[in-house]
Amino acid sequence: MNIAIGSDHAGFELKDYIKNILVQMGHNVEDVGTDGLGSVDYPDFGIEVAWLVSEGKVEKGILVCGTGIGMGIVANKVKGIRASLVYDLYTAIQSRKHLDANILVLGGRVTGKGLAEEIVKTWLTTSFEGGRHKKRIEKIEAWEKEHLK
Ligand code: RB5
Repeated sequence: MNIAIGSDHAGFELKDYIKNILVQMGHNVEDVGTDGLGSVDYPDFGIEVAWLVSEGKVEKGILVCGTGIGMGIVANKVKGIRASLVYDLYTAIQSRKHLDANILVLGGRVTGKGLAEEIVKTWLTTSFEGGRHKKRIEKIEAWEKEHLK
């Protein structure tokens, strides 16, 4: 799968850890940065990953900042993005099954590496259930079509 990944300084270490796991799993990873622990602004990286997903350049995105909140806010500004801030396995599963989330957001200062690894693997392998959930997503898409460029 083609996956874009990005973080700010607070998410950098977890982003790098996840990136290595994804590569080992055979995924094609596009890393938009950041590349170190120096202070940067999460919107710069969040928008870039969201745009790659929105434009269909990659199938899914993963974003990491300190809490995950900033990355979630910024990614969800982009048309077609359903970014889900996930802190446990239940929300990882539900974000795929019911929301068909296309971006996974993690908090590097909240979630440890072991749990993050399980979340990523679960999130990537859980399918959207469709049915009544599809109709709800179509309502979001209809609103986006009418109100967003
Ligand atoms: C950076 O210090 C921090 O504010 C940021 O990573 C994030 O937690 C925002 O949601």
